[in-house]
Amino acid sequence: MAQFTISVINGDGIGPEVMVEGLKVLHTLGAKCGHTFATSNYLAGGAALDATGVPLPDATVKGVKDSHALLFGAIGGPKWENVAHHLKPEAGLLKLRKELDAWANLRPAMVYDELIDASSLKPEVLRGTDIMVLRELTGGIYFGQPRGIEGTGPQRKGFNTEVYHEFEIERIVRMAFVIARGRRSKVCSVDKANVLESSQVWREVAIRVGKEFPDVALSHMYVDNAAMQLIRDPRQFDVIVTGNIFGDILSDESSQLTGSIGMLASASVGGPVGFFEPIHGSAPDIAGQQKANPLAMIGTLALLLRYGLKLEPEAQLIERTIRQVLKDGLRTGDIKQPGCRILNTREMGEAAVERLKAL
Ligand code: IPM
Ligand code: MG
Repeated sequence: MAQFTISVINGDGIGPEVMVEGLKVLHTLGAKCGHTFATSNYLAGGAALDATGVPLPDATVKGVKDSHALLFGAIGGPKWENVAHHLKPEAGLLKLRKELDAWANLRPAMVYDELIDASSLKPEVLRGTDIMVLRELTGGIYFGQPRGIEGTGPQRKGFNTEVYHEFEIERIVRMAFVIARGRRSKVCSVDKANVLESSQVWREVAIRVGKEFPDVALSHMYVDNAAMQLIRDPRQFDVIVTGNIFGDILSDESSQLTGSIGMLASASVGGPVGFFEPIHGSAPDIAGQQKANPLAMIGTLALLLRYGLKLEPEAQLIERTIRQVLKDGLRTGDIKQPGCRILNTREMGEAAVERLKAL
């Protein structure tokens, strides 16, 4: 029995409505397992910009750092598309990752048998797919210097720098090996070492760290090939470890293997406080309509419990809840299938609460 303080950032778009359902499930779990989850709300993204003039107020950073874990909805939307670069909701998110030193981003993509027909790929290609994409999150081209926009006329240019230090590569690759040991003992390191010096260093470090893990099979793949292999034969992958921008792209791709981005969760860890968010984003086109799938947020709770609070049995209860909801034929619009019942966001959250109570 324990007491935890959880920071909550609803954010923008569908963030608030999926958060409501996630918190119902979290408190149900607390009552079931004898834990107390005290939540404090903070602002970030467009909501923060509207209320305070910045996308990441200092009070948010301070509050989150004082908690055990951060549960995050989603940020961004067309309303803030034209604000200055440093004020964009996305800039707030990147700053928060940096402030929390959340250098490791875990994005599991697992194909549920119940949803196998929801994907645009053939069931026989997908069945059994279970990939952990491990993305470096506080380095690479997202943060490299120099960056900027300079000059005028045809000579005007935009530029960014892809840079990786050995220490940044070493810690994320080591984490990949440790995670692989708890899975199928395979790590695929993805780079572009045939072109980029940053990738050449990446590959050298991966090989060096790999020597410490002789029980784990290490392979290397160029990112263009990896993008192709992911849809050609996703089952060949166990853990994929890669840099920030390649991981951004490949994790969206792998999410589509599972049928809907509305099912996937992510964990950003490495620093003192872990940061847990669904990967679907703010989906402004369906915001406020109770159409969003709250299962990604509920899956995010499982990651928060597992990686943030080290409550493995509780994490598994949440995962069993999601499976039960799917087995019972309950769906939101994004994963609708013939013969299944379509629920709205609130109904899906309540269905999960009922299943969890009954487990
Ligand atoms: C993600 C998103 C973010 C990223 C954006 C919103 C800044 O695409 O979490 O994958 O590029 O990291
Ligand atoms: Mg992305």
